[in-house]
Amino acid sequence: MAPRLLLLLAVVGSLCATAAVGDGDGDGGGDQIMRPLKMSCSTGAGNYVAGSQYHKNLDQLLAAIPMAAAYNHGFYNGSFGAAPDEVFGLVMCYVRATGGADPCRKCLAAAPSGIMQLCPGSRTARAVFDECVVLYSDVSFFSVAGDLAASSFYVQARRGQSWTAGSGFSPSEPPYVVDAAAMNRTRSDLIASLAVIAAYSPLRLASKDTPFGGSPSMEARWMSGFVQCRRDLPASECTRCLSGYNARPPRLLPNNSGGAIKGYSCILTYGIVIPEVPWLRLPSEWLCAYRQRPEM
Ligand SMILES: *[C@@H]1O[C@H](CO)[C@@H](O)[C@H](O)[C@H]1NC(C)=O
Ligand SMILES: *[C@@H]1O[C@H](CO)[C@@H](O)[C@H](O)[C@H]1NC(C)=O
Ligand SMILES: *[C@@H]1O[C@H](CO)[C@@H](O)[C@H](O)[C@H]1NC(C)=O
Repeated sequence: MAPRLLLLLAVVGSLCATAAVGDGDGDGGGDQIMRPLKMSCSTGAGNYVAGSQYHKNLDQLLAAIPMAAAYNHGFYNGSFGAAPDEVFGLVMCYVRATGGADPCRKCLAAAPSGIMQLCPGSRTARAVFDECVVLYSDVSFFSVAGDLAASSFYVQARRGQSWTAGSGFSPSEPPYVVDAAAMNRTRSDLIASLAVIAAYSPLRLASKDTPFGGSPSMEARWMSGFVQCRRDLPASECTRCLSGYNARPPRLLPNNSGGAIKGYSCILTYGIVIPEVPWLRLPSEWLCAYRQRPEM
């Protein structure tokens, strides 16, 4: 289990590297702002003004919750202040085994201040970064997955280049599959079964590998899947989020051999992997025999 999880997470890592972040226009000079993959900021008359009580509460909350999350397995939801200026906030890391806690820590350190600068005055803001999610609002949104429309998630796809899966003796996997229907079936079933496990797990996440049956081109391949929900969500909301997103890949990732849907409330990730092929390993006895052969 553990080695394959690492493998999958390496796949996710490579996906991340291909993601286009932001629109590429200048950061306005000065400090580099960490740009989200996807964000949404409230606008209009309700917005807070600089220096207002809401602004102060937001500042305090966003300064506190990354540390609180660090002590809580990468997740925290909480509120600060009193009505009508109470702020509700949530931060969450998307789990990744490779790189330890570092990507999470870095994301949580930069994302909250980044989103405040990108959404100046917004009382409500939501942002998905590569490694973490930041949400805040003037009304409580806890325990509800909220909007699951296309505007609430970011799609990452394995495409273009082929990847070497893991550090073992694995051949690299092409970015597209030939038998899209077989992949769709495997992917859909895998994510659906993971959604059930995640919904009832305390950390609201699950991962699993499943072998491909069917077409000869898929022989010896496995699919690794990983799903995660916000931890404040009850099982029913976690399921609703993941099954909503699970309906998307047939159109958004029709033949990509790896991909992810990263949303404000849940994430799903899959990747086709080729486990180490046993017969490609050179038995150690052969090596010994070869080494001991006298010079000709
Ligand atoms: C986080 O959300 C849960 C679920 O709605 C809620 O019960 C809990 O009180 C929230 N935590 C804080 C600190 O507000
Ligand atoms: C994968 O799908 C894309 C978009 O539908 C298509 O252009 C491409 O030819 C497909 N590749 C393979 C290997 O089927
Ligand atoms: C993908 O698989 C699911 C589950 O088997 C099925 O409901 C859906 O129609 C399939 N979609 C495509 C485009 O093959």
